[in-house]
Amino acid sequence: MSDTAHQQCVRGDCGATYAIDDVLFACRRCGSLLDVRYDWPRCGVPNHLKFFDARRMSHRPQDFSGVWRFRELLPFSPPDDLVTVGEGRTILQRADELARQLGVKPGGLHLQYEGFNPSGSFKDNGMAAAFTMARRLNRRRVACASTGNTSASLALYAGVTKTRGGEPIEAVVFVGGGKIAYGKLAQALDYGAKTLQIEGDFDACMNLIQHSAERLDLYVMNSINPFRLEGQKTIMYRVLEGLDWEPPDWIIVPGGNLGNSSAFGKAFIELQQLGLIQRMPRLAVINAAGANALYELYHQHAVRFCEGHWPQKQIDEYFKEWTTKHRCAKTVASAIEIGRPVNLPKALRALEAMNGVVRQVSDEEILDAKALVGRYGFGCEPASAASVAGLRMLLADQTISPADRVVCILTGHALKDPNATVEYHSGGSGRSSFAAYANPPIAVPADIEAIAAALGS
Ligand code: F0G
Repeated sequence: MSDTAHQQCVRGDCGATYAIDDVLFACRRCGSLLDVRYDWPRCGVPNHLKFFDARRMSHRPQDFSGVWRFRELLPFSPPDDLVTVGEGRTILQRADELARQLGVKPGGLHLQYEGFNPSGSFKDNGMAAAFTMARRLNRRRVACASTGNTSASLALYAGVTKTRGGEPIEAVVFVGGGKIAYGKLAQALDYGAKTLQIEGDFDACMNLIQHSAERLDLYVMNSINPFRLEGQKTIMYRVLEGLDWEPPDWIIVPGGNLGNSSAFGKAFIELQQLGLIQRMPRLAVINAAGANALYELYHQHAVRFCEGHWPQKQIDEYFKEWTTKHRCAKTVASAIEIGRPVNLPKALRALEAMNGVVRQVSDEEILDAKALVGRYGFGCEPASAASVAGLRMLLADQTISPADRVVCILTGHALKDPNATVEYHSGGSGRSSFAAYANPPIAVPADIEAIAAALGS
């Protein structure tokens, strides 16, 4: 299979290529990010997307997986050597009540619930692909820096995957001390990952892991690993599948390390190149206001992908200022509390290809949107609700029209961060006024009449 796939630098004036078994997370020549690229005519891609429908009824592991069911669109590994734990069986849910609340036409709003993955977040899509590569490379020690979900997913997959030689795979996770929601930390510990609480935040962990990988023999599973992003492309295939293969007008996604935005852009660019879709949806990437590097670079510094010639010097200057001013990301949406998104150029590429927009939303807007999602559906963690808060903003500034067909990606399960939810509903989130959609618990004596009074009957 490897003769039809290779790695390639995404920088327009470099474009260096590498074999897929070459372990590197930046171009050796220019230091930019790498993509997985395919020689499509030799990959046996079906000529219409409905081809994939039949696999939904199959119980073969590689068909049951919502990632590998689309294996012809990420063909870097032979079909008989794919790692899967049944990830990606997630649903696109029509959300009419929420649509009504926000002012979108009935039938116009769908939520893609990635919290229903085995470890409770979208990360499993990427881990299935990255672990397939780790096994191919026979790596014994895999690692990530994490705000929580990557570590939970990494730990789960390491627990169930063996090397080619049948050896266990050790998971090492770097998390910022006190920076991770308890649901996620609980998973990493329970699934047996060696969990290192590093002094500092996610950006410090990310920097450390990049610099220690060689010395510590770590195979890095963060989204700088291009194989992980191949798995995350499939979220978009499932969105299309849920809409009978008709692209929506908008995809809205929270932006943290910008892996999803990057993967979604690559998915649609490839589908268009392959002639499998005729129209691109637009992309909206939503930053938390306290972790808004993409937003600032895009709006205040007018940084763009420029067909692969993005202004790296300007970006470096911008981040140098973060260092001199000791700026750190800070938001209630701990999953996207990231100051220096490693996938920035690829996200800019996605924005360019998908005629995208970038917005920032406050913590209050995130928490209110989260409560609305919870009230009318299955709920999500705070970072995920940035997508819905972003939709609200884009409707208000008339970028999105009420008649548009919109898909918001809900990236993680509500139970990942129960503290944020309980604080919001019980008035503990530090607001002066009660939260807009609070549903506080009611203290009632153990008495039937008192209970009846509390129920208003
Ligand atoms: N939503 C959730 C629930 C996340 O866990 C993350 C990232 C994001 C959104 C942002 O996605 O990085 O692709 O832009 N969490 C990472 C982690 C950083 O370590 O779990 P992105």
